[in-house]
Amino acid sequence: QTIVFLNGPNLNLLGTREPAIYGATTLADIEASLRRRADGRAAIVFRQSNHEGDLVTWIQEAGLAGQKIVLNAAAYTHTSIALHDAIKAVGAEVIELHLSNTFAREAFRHHSYISAVAKGVIAGFGARSYELALEACLG
Ligand code: DQA
Repeated sequence: QTIVFLNGPNLNLLGTREPAIYGATTLADIEASLRRRADGRAAIVFRQSNHEGDLVTWIQEAGLAGQKIVLNAAAYTHTSIALHDAIKAVGAEVIELHLSNTFAREAFRHHSYISAVAKGVIAGFGARSYELALEACLG
């Protein structure tokens, strides 16, 4: 099976971006550790974009191919009807992921357009959130 990890805006800056909230691990570190942990049990696709439309296209492609998606939509989580619709349109199986516990933060992070169309949500475990999502997909 193929598991597609999609990362939204500003996650390219992980490691230096607000490390007290998001940690010192870079997105490249996370990708490398996922590939090690998958160890041939699944093919890993790992992408990041600062553009909403890229994420829409990648959700459509993965969903139509029947691939599982782990989505850290970053700030688009809280704004994007387009991502919500894309997931619904192709019936994609999506795990919503956040590094931080968005419910323990500002009120504007408490609502997600993704949750209603996600199979499950993993939030608050830092870089470990990605490993937990991988195990959830493999399980
Ligand atoms: C985030 C949480 C979002 O609220 C925020 O906009 C992000 C990252 C997280 O992984 O904790 O950019 O998705």
